[in-house]
Amino acid sequence: MGTLTGRRMVVVGGSTGIGRGIADAWAGEGADVVVCSRSRPTDAPHLEWERIDLTEPDHARERLAELGATRVDAACFSAVQYGERRATFSDVSEREWRTQIDVNVTGLWLTLQALLPSLRRADPGLVVGVSSEVAFNSGPGRSGYAASKAAAKVLLDSLAQEERAVRVVQVLPAGMVDTPGIRRRRPAGFDYSSYMTPSCFARVATELAVRAGEGHHGESLVVEQDGDWAPVNDRWPVSQSRALT
Ligand SMILES: NC(=O)c1ccc[n+]([C@@H]2O[C@H](COP(=O)([O-])OP(=O)(O)OC[C@H]3O[C@@H](n4cnc5c(N)ncnc54)[C@H](OP(=O)(O)O)[C@@H]3O)[C@@H](O)[C@H]2O)c1
Repeated sequence: MGTLTGRRMVVVGGSTGIGRGIADAWAGEGADVVVCSRSRPTDAPHLEWERIDLTEPDHARERLAELGATRVDAACFSAVQYGERRATFSDVSEREWRTQIDVNVTGLWLTLQALLPSLRRADPGLVVGVSSEVAFNSGPGRSGYAASKAAAKVLLDSLAQEERAVRVVQVLPAGMVDTPGIRRRRPAGFDYSSYMTPSCFARVATELAVRAGEGHHGESLVVEQDGDWAPVNDRWPVSQSRALT
């Protein structure tokens, strides 16, 4: 028996990266965890998988509604489109901008619309949004990522001010995290030794789930390499952006 045995969780964008770290942590404590993504994780017999592509809203809405018709105690949203590469505003295509909005913002909106009724029945249910320092710092060469993550942040901030039966908490890394999404944007041979790993989120995710976010409703928590964490106002996130050369 784990501390989350009997609970059912959904992690959108849980097949890889930080979402996967959170899904693994919850499953490791005995929860039934469904991860949603475009491709099935090949190394996760302990997780259920649902194919959802947030750029296909009709299909995504239908699949999320089916999940929302069942018991859901906690939902995490970690899906992201970073964009092809760092580029100035004028070098970003409208297609890339729309995809980032579709996944990073509308994907979150669709997830909440579908799952909130079930989360309210859990009373208290828990929403964990995976945020980013970019929502606080913006930075050059990442206008679409910054704008979409800032929109997602304030969407969840606003929701937290409405909800009573669902606690809403955001988590963000203090530094860079070694994930497939980041690796796609780095050159071969890049040194990731200073990077955090998705498992750094295990402690905060488990603690939040066990107490359904009690004491942290509406907060954004900055998570450190050692798994320690603190509210953003106590530990302002350092910008990870680099000057464009
Ligand atoms: N890594 C970092 O350094 C870092 C720093 C700050 C904040 N963050 C935040 O952490 C979160 C996760 O980032 P990550 O680096 O862990 O990313 P990642 O490894 O690329 O994982 C992204 C997840 O989203 C899914 N996904 C992508 N496009 C999707 C779509 N169209 N429909 C459904 N699912 C989709 C991916 O699965 P499929 O590709 O199979 O669909 C995967 O499960 C993001 O919110 C990001 O802003 C990360």
